Amino acid sequence: MAVSYDQDIRPLFRSGDIACMTPKGIRLGDAEWMRDPAADQGLDDYGHARRVFAALLAGFMPPGQKWPQAWLDLYSN
Ligand code: HEM
Repeated sequence: MAVSYDQDIRPLFRSGDIACMTPKGIRLGDAEWMRDPAADQGLDDYGHARRVFAALLAGFMPPGQKWPQAWLDLYSN
């Protein structure tokens, strides 16, 4: 089954994650922003989603609470 942002990824973001990041222009709760195919910050395509993934994979975000591997695998699917 293909991974869907609305069904599978959106529920992983807590309201606090969205509240903290939206004012910084990282719109975790916005499906259109997360699925935007455009390049961003030197990332060739799906720049928003790749930038978010880079922060998750590095354990940089959410602060002090690295996502479990299963969530990272789901996101990168
Ligand atoms: C799943 C949850 C979260 C994700 C995916 C996320 C993602 C990101 C991303 C992609 C950046 C930008 C990095 C860049 O410039 O490319 C960032 C920066 C930042 N985030 Fe989050 N974030 C999350 C949760 C939070 C929470 C809960 C807080 C506050 C308590 C927070 C505070 C910050 C701050 C302060 C920065 C700026 C850090 C800096 O520039 O040094 N984030 N986050």
